[in-house]
Amino acid sequence: MSVTLRKLSHALGAEVVGTDLSQPLGNAAFAAIHDAFLSHGGVLLFRNQQALTREGHIAFSRRFGELDRHDNLPRDRHPEYPELLMVTNAPKPDGKPGDGKYTGQLWHSDLSFTLVPAMASVLRAIAVPPVGGDTMFANMTLAYEQLSDGMKRIVAGLDGIHTGTRKIVDLSADRAEESRRLNPPIAQPVVRVHPETGRKALYIGEKVKCFAGMTEAESQPIIDFLCRHCFRPQFCYRHAWQPGDVLMWDNRSTCHVALGDYEDGFARHLERTTIMGTPSGYVLN
Ligand code: OGA
Ligand code: MN
Repeated sequence: MSVTLRKLSHALGAEVVGTDLSQPLGNAAFAAIHDAFLSHGGVLLFRNQQALTREGHIAFSRRFGELDRHDNLPRDRHPEYPELLMVTNAPKPDGKPGDGKYTGQLWHSDLSFTLVPAMASVLRAIAVPPVGGDTMFANMTLAYEQLSDGMKRIVAGLDGIHTGTRKIVDLSADRAEESRRLNPPIAQPVVRVHPETGRKALYIGEKVKCFAGMTEAESQPIIDFLCRHCFRPQFCYRHAWQPGDVLMWDNRSTCHVALGDYEDGFARHLERTTIMGTPSGYVLN
């Protein structure tokens, strides 16, 4: 069985047209979706999924593997569905303004700051601003392949240090402290081999401050070069959300960033499942 696909950009991404995820999905249709996920750079979009419930979102995600229960991000976890992470700017239960607007505003790969980085994430849009609030995705396989042989040799020996802390100034002091306590720095190889495609991809982002065994001053120029290289528009797809969108990405071969390009006052509410990947990295002492 095949599914109908429409490419989203030159670099990566495909829309799966005409598949209603709230309906039972046979094994052949699932296999076609899984193939499309691997062969289109690791981004798939399903539009008009308003009929998909929280249970349906979780059940679809589970077809790809075991789901994370978001122990590393307890504040953003749904109180009744630990498999769901809330990406929302809704006010807190205590009435304080929500800080979800700042979630993901640096280029990153989900849970790279843990010893079991995410394999994939499935994000479902429930409310989005009338304009903006976009998310960008970069194809880290293409970015790796277009490095020179000399640069490939340099990055092959590097481990990047990943932290859960966000640089965004609006992060409150208590939240920054919680983030450090829950998530100590983890070193991850800068080049990872995708376990399903066998292709190498860069594993780097704007939250990486230095490389293991090197100073920040030594590391920063290389990090800056790699980020400038990977996140050039030609390696990217920019997603403009519509309510009912379900978009999934492969965290092993892509990076993403929330642009936060919308006016205050508009609701933006999305919910994410996170499919667990294979163990990677080590705690830095
Ligand atoms: C995420 C994330 C970006 C966005 O859900 O992992 O980074 O635009 N979201 O909400
Ligand atoms: Mn993210």
